[in-house]
Amino acid sequence: MHPAVARVIDQVETFMAGKDDALNIPREAGVFVYGLLLATRATRAVEIGTSYGYSGLWIGAALQQNGGRLLTIDREPHKSDAAATHFAAAGLAECIECRTGVAADLLHDVDGPVDFVLSDADKENCREYAELLTPKLADRAVLLTDNTLTHAEELAGFCAWIRDHGAFESCNLTIGNGMELSVHRPEGR
Ligand SMILES: C[S@@+](CC[C@H](N)C(=O)[O-])C[C@H]1O[C@@H](n2cnc3c(N)ncnc32)[C@H](O)[C@@H]1O
Repeated sequence: MHPAVARVIDQVETFMAGKDDALNIPREAGVFVYGLLLATRATRAVEIGTSYGYSGLWIGAALQQNGGRLLTIDREPHKSDAAATHFAAAGLAECIECRTGVAADLLHDVDGPVDFVLSDADKENCREYAELLTPKLADRAVLLTDNTLTHAEELAGFCAWIRDHGAFESCNLTIGNGMELSVHRPEGR
C-alpha cells in the first residue's frame, strides 16, 4: 500500500473517533477488502455508503495498484465532501469519484461492467441495490454486503434471497460486522 494511503487511514480512524455517525467497517474488514481486491485484480468498483471514506480508502488503496476506479455514493453531502478531502489527501482523487444522492436513484446511472460492490448503506434496500446492479456485474464479480452479524434480522431476507438466486454463489463471513460474500456467476453456479 502507498504510504500516503496508510497514513490517511490512520488519520481517518482518529477523525472518526470523535463522531457517532461514521458507522465505518472495522479495520479487520478493511484489511480483508483490500486483500480481496488485490487477489481478484478488480478494477471497476462501486460502493453504496461512503460515510467519511474509511472503507473507500481500503478499496482505493487496492484499486490504485490494480489500475482501477471506485464510484462511491452517499446521500449526506457533508460526508461525501469529507470523504473527498480524505481521498485527495491519500493521493486517491484520480481513482475515486464521490457522488451525492439517494443510492436507488444514482445506481441507475452506473455503467457496467462492475467487478466489485460494497453495499453498506440502508439495510432494508440491499436487495433492491443488488437487483439494480446485477445486470451490470461482470462474471465473477463480488458483491459484499456488510452488517450480517450486527443487523442479522434486517438482512436475513436478503441473505436467503441471494443464496437462492441462481446467478450467485453466496455465503456469510464472520469478519468485522459480518459480510455476505456473493460471487456473480451469470451462466449458473
Ligand atoms: C454504514 S455507513 C457507511 C460506512 C462506510 N462504508 C465505511 O465503512 O466507512 C452508511 C452510509 O450510508 C448512507 N446512506 C444510508 N442510506 C442511504 C441511501 N438510501 N442512499 C445513499 N446513501 C445512504 C449514510 O449516509 C451513511 O453515511
